[in-house]
Amino acid sequence: MAKIGLFYATDTVNTRKIAKRIKKQFEEGEIELFDVAKTTPDTMKDCETLIIGTPTLGDGELPEPLAEFLGQLDSSHLNGKPVALFGLGDQVGYPAEFVDALGITYKKLKKLGANLIGSWPVEGYEFEKSKALRDGEFVGLVLDQDNQADLTDERLEEWLERVKPELLGETVAG
Ligand SMILES: Cc1cc2nc3c(=O)[nH]c(=O)nc-3n(C[C@H](O)[C@H](O)[C@H](O)COP(=O)(O)O)c2cc1C
Repeated sequence: MAKIGLFYATDTVNTRKIAKRIKKQFEEGEIELFDVAKTTPDTMKDCETLIIGTPTLGDGELPEPLAEFLGQLDSSHLNGKPVALFGLGDQVGYPAEFVDALGITYKKLKKLGANLIGSWPVEGYEFEKSKALRDGEFVGLVLDQDNQADLTDERLEEWLERVKPELLGETVAG
């Protein structure tokens, strides 16, 4: 079993594609991908660290398979492991519910005592409201494939640089 388990939900495959792009940034065997529609939280017990990625659907809602997955989750699945979150949304189409599912996921995990890492600055996005904001930052990486796909490579690279050491269990220098 790989060290990092990346669990994702997807409707129109954007999030799956991002998950695959993240996987490419790690060495062979370091990370494994799991579609939450096809697995259960027990799979998390075999992973040392976690990434969870989700689009926002409906009007600021979780994808149904992720809602179900999170409903089965308890603190024994998380057990102090670092968890980094990313969310996909559409800031032009849904400016008042931008990446809300990321915020809903964060809230649920926080309640279970998860060790959440990988917050992300709000600069560069234009929206009215988002449940994914805490202390003026997003609670995880935010990607907008509908309007800012050209910024995704850059955002992914910078975010991974920040979270990789903790996800790989390496000591951060300095
Ligand atoms: C029916 C529908 C509802 C959506 N609702 C929201 C929303 O409330 N907030 C948001 O930020 N994005 C919303 N989006 C945009 C998606 O989150 C975005 O397109 C994302 O890239 C889809 O990822 P996926 O292909 O992995 O499903 C919605 C998209 C669809 C098709």
